Order: sequence, then structure tokens, then C-alpha cells
Amino acid sequence: MEKKNFAMDAPHLVLLPFPAQGHIKPMLILAQLLCHGGNFNITFVNTEHNHSRLLKLIDQPAFSRLFPTLQFMSIPDGLPPEHPRAGPSVVDLFFSTSSVSKPEFRNLIVSVSQEPTCIIADGIMSFAVDVADELGIPVITFRTYSATCTWIYFHLQKLIQNGEIPVLQGNEDMDKQISCIPGLENVLRRRDLPSICKLEPDSPILQFYITQASKMTRASALILNTFQELETPMITHLQSIFPTVYTIGPLHSLLNSIIVDSPSKNSSSLIEMDESCIKWLDAQHPKSVLYVSFGSVIVLSHDQFLEFWYGLVNSGKPFLWAIRPDLIVDYNGPNNIPEELKWASKEMGCIVSWAPQEDVLAHQAIGGFLTHSGWNSTLESIYSGVPMICWPMIADQQVNSRCVSEMWKVGLDLKDTCDRSTVEKLVRDVMENKVEEVMASTVKNARLAHDSIHEGGSSHGNIKKLVQDIISIHSRKIAVNKEIMSF
Ligand code: UDX
Repeated sequence: MEKKNFAMDAPHLVLLPFPAQGHIKPMLILAQLLCHGGNFNITFVNTEHNHSRLLKLIDQPAFSRLFPTLQFMSIPDGLPPEHPRAGPSVVDLFFSTSSVSKPEFRNLIVSVSQEPTCIIADGIMSFAVDVADELGIPVITFRTYSATCTWIYFHLQKLIQNGEIPVLQGNEDMDKQISCIPGLENVLRRRDLPSICKLEPDSPILQFYITQASKMTRASALILNTFQELETPMITHLQSIFPTVYTIGPLHSLLNSIIVDSPSKNSSSLIEMDESCIKWLDAQHPKSVLYVSFGSVIVLSHDQFLEFWYGLVNSGKPFLWAIRPDLIVDYNGPNNIPEELKWASKEMGCIVSWAPQEDVLAHQAIGGFLTHSGWNSTLESIYSGVPMICWPMIADQQVNSRCVSEMWKVGLDLKDTCDRSTVEKLVRDVMENKVEEVMASTVKNARLAHDSIHEGGSSHGNIKKLVQDIISIHSRKIAVNKEIMSF
């Protein structure tokens, strides 16, 4: 349903996220910032599956009051209702959205009441670039990964030519340095490449990413949820591909700084948050608790789950663990959890299915974060000054964890192993033995992140520039239309 209260003389933006939590959240925050800061009309296009999940959890009256010109619309994702849309099968969305959602998106664009000024599409929904080109609408691409990972995706073909792909798990070459990506020569090993680099060169998934990267370059600008001071060299490289790069992160904190205590705070979650853990945290000592979460997509085997659990308990540190109902792929009931773990966790742990993560990371009781290194979690942790233990599994996570441990030195990398003794050791390291070492850069980077979102900061300036540039596109369009009318 279209909204009635669009301001007809304002620019109209259509925003299209990839249908997963980690992509929807930054795109919806961007929508809120543009609606608030530019008074733009916004159409936010979810897949039908996520549309209903999101609207169920949003406080709709409060949200509408704050963002009266932001409307939600939906298109099918092409998958049957019973499809899990998580874990390894999330890749099915790449192909179903490209084939089924693309014509539906085109229909939506031609049927909305106000012609879009500009489309902002996720970098892996590049079919939107085809639609925009065909209809003569400007398009900006929003890659929700780091600048470093985005830069790497532009080198997939080169990695294939150099024989770096496929990276074979367990092979002794896993620690070989990658030398063919400018700016990352002394940083990346083969094991740090995005997970798609484990696939054969002719794999449809790897080829999908190559095509997406190439299509993205047809957009007029690139938006990244990062900040200039964190990734300057990589952003400079990306400026050789895109005429304009807007770095506007960390987006969650930019929104929170502009709209303080608003009902929009947790409005981008597809899963209901269990706030009870905050009370539990209130009763813990400062910096004593390890927060554990593996994000919204990855799954663990039952064995991996138990190794983590033993590692946490053996470390002796209190922990707060967000365990999604679908996190363990072969979970067969509480009877298969050893009694000693259940007993120890009652004493020293708090388990919820989905935590209010931003509030948790900002809580004074948190002293470390065991994370899957999704980009949102990484940025949120950097902003809150919480050191990380990284256990990456898919997508950009391998890259993020390497940046965390080697570039920014704000955590430790547990990559490719999760036996209980290593987990225990790293928890003790990050919370105790190496705390001073790791906190020096953690505090420094948190300060840089804070500076970037406030008046005079890089991300603050870039979001203003993005608003101004969209207004210019809109004004040019109106001028051209007037000229045509006067013929
Ligand atoms: C996915 C990919 O896994 C990730 O690599 C990519 O960078 C983005 O898409 P996801 O697994 O959801 O993302 O991880 P992440 O990017 O960290 O996003 C998770 C979001 O959910 C975070 O913003 C976090 O604050 C929120 N979250 C997570 C909660 O609110 N509560 C939780 O319990 C866990």
C-alpha cells in the first residue's frame, strides 16, 4: 500500500536491501537518516518474507510519526514459504532475487505514484542497476561490507588468474600471503579471503559475486557503512573505481546521535529482542562479562556448540550468550547438553535467543565480545570500545576478523578452530592477560568512530553531502522536466 502523505515536491528515493538482517539493518538506518535529514520521500522495498517480519516488530504509530514520508513496500523473493533463508541455503536468494524479484522490482518502480529521483540498492542486488539503467533513473550502490572487503571483491578474477582460488581448507598453503591485491600485500593470507574463495572458479556463486562487482561499477556512487579514519587506504583505492564514495558509518551510532532515545532505535530487527539480559548485566562487575553472538545467518554443529560452551565455562568469565533458535544445525534437545554445562551456566551465564546488541555492547559490564565478525557487529564493537575474539565462518567475516586482529589490533582471531582449550585461552587473553595491549587500540579506534559521527566528523559530513547531492539530482530533473513541458 502506498502512503498518502508523500511531499510531492520532495525527492523520492527507493531503497532496496538484500533480504538478510545484516543488510536490512544498515539500509533501514540510512532510510531513516535520509527521511529525517533531507525530508525525502522514501520507499523501502523488502521481500514479502521480511516485510511482514519487520512490520510485526516495529512500533508502527511511533515510527510513522517520526518518519511520516517513509513507506514500506514488498516484492517476492522467489523462494517457497518453508525455505529456511538462513545458514548455507541463504545463497539461494542470490539466484531467486535476480530472476524473480527483478521484474517485480521493475513493476514496482514504474507503478509508484511519484517517479523515483534515485534508487539506492545493495551491492549484491545489482539487478537494480539494470532496472535503473533501462528506466533512466540514477542509481547509487550501497555495499554493506567494509571498504577492505569491497576492494577484495573487485579482485576475484585476478585471484582466479593467480591460482589463489580455490582456497582448500586444511591445506598447508592456507597461510600463504596474497600479493595481488594492492594495499593488502602484507596483511591477507589465503585463509583470510572471503569464504566464496573456497569455491571452484566456475562455481555459480563465485561467478555471481564477480558479476555483482562488475555491475556495481555502473552506479554513480558508492555508499559504505564505515568511517574514513578506519580504512583510509582502501577507501582511496575504491575512489579509483567510483567517482564518489560516501563513508557514513558507523550508521547505528550516527542515527542514535541524531535521533536520541527514539522509538526507531531497534526498529531494524527482524527478531524479537530479549531485554531481560540488561538487568542481569546491571548486576555484574564492570568489564567482567564476555558477550557471545554469532549473528543472524551462520549455524554451528552440535559439536562446535559444545566446544564453545566448554571453553566459556572453563575460562571462568561470566558470559551473556545470544543463541538463536536455529543456531545449532543438528540440535537434538536439552538432554544432549552435559549437566555440568547447564549447572555452570546457571552460576555464571545468561542465555537469551536474541539480545539488544547495541545496548549490550554499550553496557559497562561488557569486557569482550566473541563474535562471528559480521560487519555490523564488528563496527558496533569498535564503536563501543569492546575488544573482540573473532570466529568467522562465511562471506566477509574472514576478512573482517583479519582486519580486527592485524590492521586495527582491536581483538584476536580464532579463525578455523574452536576447540575448547583455544576458546578458553583466547577468552582469558582478551579479558585478562592481553587486556592492556588490546585496549590501547580499541580505545583509540572507538574515539575515532565517535569523532566521525559528530559535527565536523567525516561520516557526519558525508551524510550531509549525500543529502545535498540527492537534492541536486532532483533539482536537475525538475529543470529538465520543465524544459520538456515548455516545448
Ligand atoms: C550477515 C553476514 O553474516 C555478515 O558477514 C555480513 O557482514 C552482513 O550480513 P549477520 O550474520 O546478521 O550479517 O551479522 P552482522 O553483520 O553482525 O549483523 C547482525 C546485526 O544483528 C547486528 O547489527 C547486531 O546488532 C544485531 N543483533 C545480533 C542483535 O540485535 N541481537 C543479537 O542477539 C545478535
